[in-house]
Amino acid sequence: MTHHPLDPAALRARAASALLAARDRTHLLTGCVEEPDLLAQHSPLMSPLVWDLAHIGNQEEQWLLRTVGGRDALRPDIDSVYDAFEHPRAARPSLPLLAPAEARGYVAEVRGRVLDVLESSPLHGGPLLDSGFAFGMIAQHEQQHDETMLITHQLRRGPAVLTAPPPPDTSDGILPTEVLIPGGPFTMGTSAEPWALDNERPAHRRLVPSFLIDTTPVSNGAYQRFIEDGGYDEPRWWAEAGWAQVREHKLRAPLFWKRDGRQWLRRRFGVTEPVPPDEPVLHISWYEADAYARWAGRRLPTEAEWEKAARHDPVSGRAMRYPWGDEDPTPVHANLGQRHLRPAPVGSYPEGESPFGVRQLIGDVWEWTASDFMPYPGFAAFPYREYSEVFFGTEYKVLRGGSFAVDPVACRGTFRNWDLPVRRQIFSGFRTARDAEPTGDAA
Ligand code: AVJ
Ligand code: FE
Repeated sequence: MTHHPLDPAALRARAASALLAARDRTHLLTGCVEEPDLLAQHSPLMSPLVWDLAHIGNQEEQWLLRTVGGRDALRPDIDSVYDAFEHPRAARPSLPLLAPAEARGYVAEVRGRVLDVLESSPLHGGPLLDSGFAFGMIAQHEQQHDETMLITHQLRRGPAVLTAPPPPDTSDGILPTEVLIPGGPFTMGTSAEPWALDNERPAHRRLVPSFLIDTTPVSNGAYQRFIEDGGYDEPRWWAEAGWAQVREHKLRAPLFWKRDGRQWLRRRFGVTEPVPPDEPVLHISWYEADAYARWAGRRLPTEAEWEKAARHDPVSGRAMRYPWGDEDPTPVHANLGQRHLRPAPVGSYPEGESPFGVRQLIGDVWEWTASDFMPYPGFAAFPYREYSEVFFGTEYKVLRGGSFAVDPVACRGTFRNWDLPVRRQIFSGFRTARDAEPTGDAA
């Protein structure tokens, strides 16, 4: 296990480097466009980039300066402008936002003071302080908004401003298309991971009957066969609300795809290019994933099935932090952290494989699951109800595993994301599953 408690100096270094990495990414995403692009609303689904920037600083001020540090408030006057619950995204452009230069000065000022707090904080003596939780939470919060801002960049029209090398193609040989995960109990969620957020807790036993799951996410090529087979014209593949969305918005393909004669093109961060058939499909709604699965004679995995395939070690019977074991992700394990601005070909990352032989569970594309976003037994909201608790219910579907846009600090085998089933601007894909044939065993 790599859950040894770190000494305070090592914890401080880890917290400082997580905060720094997030800030580097924030600067890159907000420094590569001119002021009008920071202030503009590129889609009603998203905030202006300059709102995300100051919201990042305001959350950091509230939790690390005021609550953990016990310091005086720096800008209490702007709390309400940057409260995500007071103002829906569509309304944010008309708020009295800090101008870009002011927002940059504000986040830098907060950060300077936070690093002083970190120096003198005991990092134990309560759940916010223990293991530096509040610092980890705020580093994850900033990284989550860095993914949100990357989505805004993808929606923005105009020439490309972001570039990154393609991921290496590490797919090797021929994989089985699906593997059997034998029935039985496993440990879902965590009580040990120090920076796990409230909705990942506590660890609990779940019984999962035998099932089969795809070894890779569904590819663009496979998804194109669904399109070409008339998938978008056939109501029987679709959940009722999904079919209504197809009709109302005349959906024919994933978001950002465009037909060009006999081939499909896609727009990706300002560049138009042919859709690569061997990459995981991206920018699809839960309804599209669900319809594809039904067309294929399959179904989406439940959240418990996904996590068992990703974390259960059949040899030790233990749940691991990641599919490959307990070590933190490195570039050989998974496509994370915006190192590449696209998913890697299906079958990549053999070193990130799970014991059952399932690949790309972490990184590349968020994977829609069949499950609604619900609390685990024993859930306790911490440290604020608005992170998870207010979203529990049947409205939201769970996504797992993170995308190429997610930083390792905000991605692990237990991490849970959620969104509305109609959403397609997120970096979403999926894999499929099916029930195992009954064997007659009294499992
Ligand atoms: C976990 C991605 C659904 O962006 O709405 C950011 C993360 N919470 N600020 C979101 C979050 C508060 C959240 N998701
Ligand atoms: Fe936020």
